Amino acid sequence: MNDPLVLGIETSCDETGVGLVRGRTLLFDAIASSVEEHARFGGVVPEVASRAHLEAMVPTLERACREAGVRLADVDAVSVTAGPGLAGALLVGVASAKALALALGVPLYGVNHLAAHVAVDVVEHGPLPEPTLGLLVSGGHSNLLLVPDVTHDIRSLGATMDDAAGEAFDKVARILGLPFPGGPHIDRVAREGDQVAIDFPRGLTSGRDLQRHRFDYSFSGLKTAVARWVQAREAAGEPVPVADVAASFQEAVVDVLTRKALLACREHGVDDLLIGGGVAANSRLRALAQERCDAAGVRLRVPRPGLCTDNGAMVAALGAQMVMRGRPPSGLDLPADSSQPVEQVRS
Ligand code: KG4
Ligand code: ZN
Repeated sequence: MNDPLVLGIETSCDETGVGLVRGRTLLFDAIASSVEEHARFGGVVPEVASRAHLEAMVPTLERACREAGVRLADVDAVSVTAGPGLAGALLVGVASAKALALALGVPLYGVNHLAAHVAVDVVEHGPLPEPTLGLLVSGGHSNLLLVPDVTHDIRSLGATMDDAAGEAFDKVARILGLPFPGGPHIDRVAREGDQVAIDFPRGLTSGRDLQRHRFDYSFSGLKTAVARWVQAREAAGEPVPVADVAASFQEAVVDVLTRKALLACREHGVDDLLIGGGVAANSRLRALAQERCDAAGVRLRVPRPGLCTDNGAMVAALGAQMVMRGRPPSGLDLPADSSQPVEQVRS
């Protein structure tokens, strides 16, 4: 089918997203977030997120249709994040999508959240080169993916062994007394700081660690190093240079992220790197990635920040590409799978 109208639903974490995509054109992306309800806990509380999805689903769906100027009856297929994510949160989206697909008599596509983060870029920058190398960095994931075909064939090259990149930003922000979610605050504060002030560790980047975990990441050692450094300052009664700590920490994270992503491009012979996920909004990550891609002759694609964070448009975009490639839909017995492996693009 040419240019199918696909409704996408995303509820894997704290954003209730409903997007409408026609072919590769984004019509509207409606989002309701419960992030403020989690702020005082310093992280997403699963039960609070599930309840917020239930309350937001119908109003967000209605808003998406209204703003896009489409009627539900015109939708050709429904696409939904089946996993990975928070089990209760995913269930709300999957149950809603099944009800819609059944009521409208259209096919249902249960898709992988990580694949959707990659697929969304088609609405901004056109068809994905095949293969593309995907670097996904958010509060929940840090993955390096080889993507020969985003609708069908995704291979995991590496992932974080402990904290996700965004989680490290959030935890270090907390150590520095900055609000949750901490990534944007570290990004802002770091602009006033010196990125070489403190030499924080770059995990899994040398010797046997690198050999064994060529494309894996580890950020918990870095987080601990920051905490120790700050504690030592405080114990000595000296002021903590927040901007320098933020800049040096941020540099350690983006150095490792981009270094391994470009190593993967080189070793797998891939000329196109796509960065997605909430941390892709980071200004230093964007700048360093661009610098290193230019030096290596790799083309860089980064969707605009609103498409990098969790949203419904990415799910609709992947669903539409599946319809256009003639991929078979999922059954109505589609499960929500909180630990869905990245290789399983469609459930
Ligand atoms: O993709 P996302 O909205 O949700 C998840 O799936 O996790 O990503 C949220 C994460 C948070 O950890 C947040 O601190 C981080 O992305 N983040 C940033 C920036 N903006 C958001 N991290 C670093 N720099 C930023 N500018
Ligand atoms: Zn995500």
